[in-house]
Amino acid sequence: MPGIRVLLYFGLVAVLPALCHPHTPCTLTQRTAICNSLRLSSVPSNLPQQIEELFLNQNIILKLQNGCLSRYPYLQTLSCANCLLNAVDEQVFSSSPLIESLNFAGNELHNEHKQFAQSLGSLTRLRILDLSGNGFTEDMVSELLQNLTSLEFLDLSGNVLLRLDEYTFRDLHQLKELNLERNILFEIDGAFDHLKKLKRLNLAFNSLPCLVKFEMTQLVVLNASHNLIEWFITNQNLTETFALETLDLSDNRLLYFPFLPTYNCIKTLLLPNNHIGFYSHLSQNTSSNWTNSVEFYNLGGNASNVTAELWSDDLHGDISSVELLDLSVNQVRYFPQGFLQKMPHLYWLRMRSNCLESLNLTGEDLPVTVYELDVSNNRLTELHAHSRSVSELNNLTHLNLSLNNIQKLPSRLFTTFPSLSIVDLSYNTVGLCHPKELRNSDSSACALWTNHSSLKQLHIAGCNLINIPPLAFDGTPLTYLDLSNNPDLHIGQDCLSGLSGTLQHLGLSNTGLQEFNFSPFKQLKFLNISKNLITELPKSLMTLNLKLLDLRDNMLSTFKPEHASVLAKRVQIAYINGNYFNCCQLEWYRTFEESKILHVADLLEVTCVDLHQRRLKAGLFDSILCGGRSTDESIFWYILLFISVGVSMVGVSVIYFLTFRPRLLPRVIKKKCWKPTTY
Ligand SMILES: *[C@@H]1O[C@H](CO)[C@@H](O)[C@H](O)[C@H]1NC(C)=O
Ligand SMILES: *[C@@H]1O[C@H](CO)[C@@H](O)[C@H](O)[C@H]1NC(C)=O
Ligand SMILES: *[C@@H]1O[C@H](CO)[C@@H](O)[C@H](O)[C@H]1NC(C)=O
Ligand SMILES: *[C@@H]1O[C@H](CO)[C@@H](O)[C@H](O)[C@H]1NC(C)=O
Ligand SMILES: *[C@@H]1O[C@H](CO)[C@@H](O)[C@H](O)[C@H]1NC(C)=O
Ligand SMILES: *[C@@H]1O[C@H](CO)[C@@H](O)[C@H](O)[C@H]1NC(C)=O
Ligand SMILES: *[C@@H]1O[C@H](CO)[C@@H](O)[C@H](O)[C@H]1NC(C)=O
Ligand SMILES: *[C@@H]1O[C@H](CO)[C@@H](O)[C@H](O)[C@H]1NC(C)=O
Ligand SMILES: *[C@@H]1O[C@H](CO)[C@@H](O)[C@H](O)[C@H]1NC(C)=O
Ligand SMILES: *[C@@H]1O[C@H](CO)[C@@H](O)[C@H](O)[C@H]1NC(C)=O
Ligand SMILES: *[C@@H]1O[C@H](CO)[C@@H](O)[C@H](O)[C@H]1NC(C)=O
Ligand SMILES: *[C@@H]1O[C@H](CO)[C@@H](O)[C@H](O)[C@H]1NC(C)=O
Repeated sequence: MPGIRVLLYFGLVAVLPALCHPHTPCTLTQRTAICNSLRLSSVPSNLPQQIEELFLNQNIILKLQNGCLSRYPYLQTLSCANCLLNAVDEQVFSSSPLIESLNFAGNELHNEHKQFAQSLGSLTRLRILDLSGNGFTEDMVSELLQNLTSLEFLDLSGNVLLRLDEYTFRDLHQLKELNLERNILFEIDGAFDHLKKLKRLNLAFNSLPCLVKFEMTQLVVLNASHNLIEWFITNQNLTETFALETLDLSDNRLLYFPFLPTYNCIKTLLLPNNHIGFYSHLSQNTSSNWTNSVEFYNLGGNASNVTAELWSDDLHGDISSVELLDLSVNQVRYFPQGFLQKMPHLYWLRMRSNCLESLNLTGEDLPVTVYELDVSNNRLTELHAHSRSVSELNNLTHLNLSLNNIQKLPSRLFTTFPSLSIVDLSYNTVGLCHPKELRNSDSSACALWTNHSSLKQLHIAGCNLINIPPLAFDGTPLTYLDLSNNPDLHIGQDCLSGLSGTLQHLGLSNTGLQEFNFSPFKQLKFLNISKNLITELPKSLMTLNLKLLDLRDNMLSTFKPEHASVLAKRVQIAYINGNYFNCCQLEWYRTFEESKILHVADLLEVTCVDLHQRRLKAGLFDSILCGGRSTDESIFWYILLFISVGVSMVGVSVIYFLTFRPRLLPRVIKKKCWKPTTY
C-alpha cells in the first residue's frame, strides 16, 4: 500500500507546477490565510508577512522544510491537517516562536517522529496540539511531548497507543484537555497522576478492561465509553470532593454500578449498554461463600487489592447531584432500598430494556423532581401509586411505559401528574376506562384519560383495545394519538369527538378500520390508516390539509380522478403501496406523478393487478393491454371475438373461392404484378 500511495503523490506533485498562480489562491482575511484544498505542494511564500493564522488543510505537502515558515514570524496558528505530511524538519519553527496552536491531524508523521519532536521543542508557547490519526505509538508520543510544558489541549485520538505510564505525559503540567479516543489502550499505569490541571479526559473506543483506584479529583468530564471495562472503582478513601460532573461509561461490560467517589459533583451519569445489576439479595445469604475482594494486576506484576463489599449496595458513593441517570440496556431487576431517593435532583431517569419487575410511581419511591421517566421494555406487570389522589411527582412530563406487560394500575394514575405531557403505554394490556362507569380502585385493567389538561401525546398502540368509550378523551387536548396495532378495535364516530379541535397526528394502522369520517378533525396533519380494510378512499379526507397520509396495505382498487386531483393538491407525502389497484384504472398514477405538491414516497414500487390477476409494477404497465376504457371491457372482447370470427370466415371463403375457381388466380396475380420487374 505505501508504494501505491507514493506513486500517487508523485503523480499529483508532477502536475502542480502547471498550476502556478501569480497571485496567491488563498483567502485572506485580516491576519488569517486560508489555503485549504488548493493542491499546494508547499507552504505558500507569497502571503503577507504579518499573518498570524495559516490554514493549509487538505493539500499535498509531504514535508515541512526548514525555512518554509521563516517569512511568517508572527504565526500563532498553523493547521496542516490531512496533508499526507511525512516529515517536519528540526528547525521549521525556529523563526516562529509565537506559535500557540498546531494541527497536524491525519498525516503520516510517525515516519520521522524524532525530527518532529526536535522541531516542537522550540515552541515555548504551544498550547494546542492536534496529533490525531498519525500512527503514533506510545514511545513516539512520550518523545514528542517531552518539554512541552505549556501544552493545554492535546488530541492523540486515532493513533496506535497501547499502554500509558507515568513517563508518557510527564512534562505536561498545564494540560487541561486530553483526547485519547480510538487507540488500542489496554493499560494505564499512573499516567495521569501528575496532570493536576486535567479537566476533560476522553478514553472512548479503547480496550481498557478496568479503571481502578480512580483518584483524579480535578477531572470534570471523563469519557470511557466503548471499552471493555468490567470494573470502575474509585479510591473511596479520599475525602476530597471530586470535581467530576460527567461520567460516560456507556457500552462497556460493567457488572456492578460504578463505585463512585465518596464526595463528587456528578450530574450526568451515562451507563447504558452494560450488564449492571444490584446484588444485595445475595449478600443477605450468610451461608454462601462469596468473596468480597478483587485483585487487579498490571503488566509490572504489581497487584493491588481493592476490597469492597461487592454484594452490598452501599458502594455507589455519592450520587446526590445526579440529574441524568442513563441505565438503558442493563440487567437491573430492582433498585436497592433508598437508591433513587439519594438523587434529589434527578430529572431524567432512563431505564429502557432492563428487568424491572415493580415500580411505584410515587413521590416516596421516586425523586419528586423527575421530569422524564423511561421504563420501556422491562417486566412490569403492575403499577402502584398512592391511594391519595394527589401525587407529588409534579414535574413528571415524559413517561414511557411501553413494551412491558402491565395489566393492572390505578385507573386515575395518569391524571394525578399535573405536568404530564407525553405518555407511551403501547404494548401493554391496558384498556380505556369509561368515564361514567368508573370505580375508584387501586388496581384496574383500564386507565382514565379525561380532563387531563396537560396531556399532548398518547401512545396506546398494541394494547388489545376493543372499544373506545364515548367521551374517553373529553377535556384532554391531545395533539397526538397512536391507536395502531389494536386489530379488534371498534372506533365509533363519536368516541374521538373530544379531540376534533386539537388532534394533529392520528395513528390508526392495523385497527380493522373500514370507513371513518375524518372531516371534524380540521387540525389533522399526519394520518396513518395503513394495514386496514379500506376499499374506497374516505371522502372526508378531501377536506383536510395533510402533511402525511399513509394508505399502505389496504384494499383500494383505484382513486377516482376527482379525488386524485384533490389529494395531489392537498397532501405533501403519501404512502400507497400494498393495495389492489386495478391496472386498467390508473389515471390517478399520472396525476400523482405530475403533482408538484404531493410526493408519493413509494410511487415507483406501487403494484397493480391486471386482467389475469397478476401483480405488476403500476409505473411500467401499458394501458394498451386494457384496450381502452375498462368500463367497455366486455364490449371490447365481444368486438374482438366478432372480428376474429369475421376474419376467419373471409379467409375460409377466399380459400374456397381460389381453390374452386383456379383460373382466377393467375389473373389476380397478373393484375397485382403488372409492373415489369428489374431482375
Ligand atoms: C528537553 O529538554 C532537555 C533538557 O532541557 C533536552 O536535553 C532535551 O533534548 C529536550 N527534548 C526535546 C525533545 O526537545
Ligand atoms: C463520549 O465519546 C463518544 C465517542 O466520541 C461520544 O459519542 C459521546 O457523546 C461522548 N460522551 C460524552 C458525555 O460526551
Ligand atoms: C484505604 O485505607 C485503608 C486503611 O487506611 C488502606 O488499608 C487501603 O489500602 C486504602 N485503600 C486504597 C485504595 O488506598
Ligand atoms: C443461600 O445460599 C445457599 C447455598 O448457596 C442456597 O442453597 C440458598 O438457597 C440461598 N438462600 C437464599 C435466601 O438465597
Ligand atoms: C466455602 O469454601 C470452602 C473452600 O473453598 C469449602 O470447603 C466450603 O465447603 C465452602 N462452603 C460453602 C457453604 O459453600
Ligand atoms: C511495584 O510497585 C513498586 C512501588 O509501587 C515499585 O517500586 C516496583 O518496581 C513495582 N514492581 C514492578 C515489578 O513493577
Ligand atoms: C489480596 O487479598 C487476598 C485476600 O485477602 C490475599 O489472599 C492476597 O494476598 C492479597 N493480595 C495482595 C497483593 O495484597
Ligand atoms: C411499592 O409500594 C408498596 C407499598 O405501597 C411496597 O410494598 C413495595 O415494596 C413498593 N415497591 C417498590 C419497588 O418500591
Ligand atoms: C423539572 O425538570 C426540569 C428538567 O427539564 C428542571 O429544569 C426543573 O428544575 C424541574 N423542576 C422541579 C420543580 O424540579
Ligand atoms: C418509548 O420507548 C420505546 C422503546 O424503548 C420507543 O420505541 C418509543 O419511541 C418510546 N416512546 C416515546 C414516545 O418516546
Ligand atoms: C370532566 O370535567 C367536566 C367539567 O369540569 C365534568 O363535568 C366531568 O364530570 C369531568 N369528567 C370526569 C370523568 O371527571
Ligand atoms: C404507520 O404505522 C405503522 C404501524 O405503527 C408503521 O409501521 C408505519 O411506519 C407508519 N407509517 C408512517 C409513514 O410513519
